[in-house]
Amino acid sequence: MPSVSSSAASHPAAAPRGVDVHPLSPALGAEIRGVDLTRPIDEATFSVIADAWREHLVILFRDQVLSEEDQVRFAQRFGALQGRPRPASMRAETAVKHPEIMLVSNIRENGKPIGSLPDGEMQFHSDMCYIEQPAKGTFLYAIEIPSVGGDTHFLNMYAAYDALPAEIKAKIDGRQAVNVFQYGSTSREGNNPDFDEHPHYTHPMVRTHPDSRRKALFVNRLMTWSIEGMEDAESAALLDALFDHIEQPKFIYEHKWRVGDLLLWDNRCTLHARTDFSDKERRLLRRCVIQGDKPY
Ligand code: OGA
Ligand code: MN
Repeated sequence: MPSVSSSAASHPAAAPRGVDVHPLSPALGAEIRGVDLTRPIDEATFSVIADAWREHLVILFRDQVLSEEDQVRFAQRFGALQGRPRPASMRAETAVKHPEIMLVSNIRENGKPIGSLPDGEMQFHSDMCYIEQPAKGTFLYAIEIPSVGGDTHFLNMYAAYDALPAEIKAKIDGRQAVNVFQYGSTSREGNNPDFDEHPHYTHPMVRTHPDSRRKALFVNRLMTWSIEGMEDAESAALLDALFDHIEQPKFIYEHKWRVGDLLLWDNRCTLHARTDFSDKERRLLRRCVIQGDKPY
């Protein structure tokens, strides 16, 4: 039978009673149980969440019943909410109180989507990597979920970087790539960004996470368009090879949503993608994002 001291030693974060962390996959992700996000979160509980987030990169809370206010209050513990880069005239959301809240939904009223990113599959990406200070964390809360598909896959970009051959690391360390978002696009194929119109920003292909100090790859299939200072053909071939390397199952956790899930992910060291789902079923999630720093 374990003594009190040995069981304490296996839980060094001194988690408050009933709060515990359960890894979700070998690649990344952990569920935290025993926290009701509608209630004030004390410092001890918050530090368990923050430590688990740094270690596991994606955090899941299940069975939450969250108002918009609850979600915003929790997110603000991690930093300032990020405003929406999309011009107000291009936003679909009318039924939200905070201008920073985005609905991710295929529901349509009078033929118009009530939210953003409405339909089907989406390739791997990092949120807002096309602006100067991309999102640090994204908080996505499930309100309506289809019976099949619409899963979100998360990818560990520390592990993807660490597993690169040394000669590829040498080729990309210190290099920059242009990231661009063609609004509404969910796959690279067929994209042809117009740099006068679509938001874009050049960032390092390998970034250092400001908290962990670890290196992570910072390129993705949906939004990283080309490598600076490289011929088009060479840039396209290297990016393709990187995307294929990155998108290996061993780096991925596949999340199947349940109503009441709140997921928090770190855009500085993970990517995410969405699987296809039927347009006959409704999908509604509520999202907010906290602002990050300029990658280095
Ligand atoms: C997002 C996003 C994926 C999903 O909200 O940034 O990519 O599963 N969502 O809807
Ligand atoms: Mn996204």
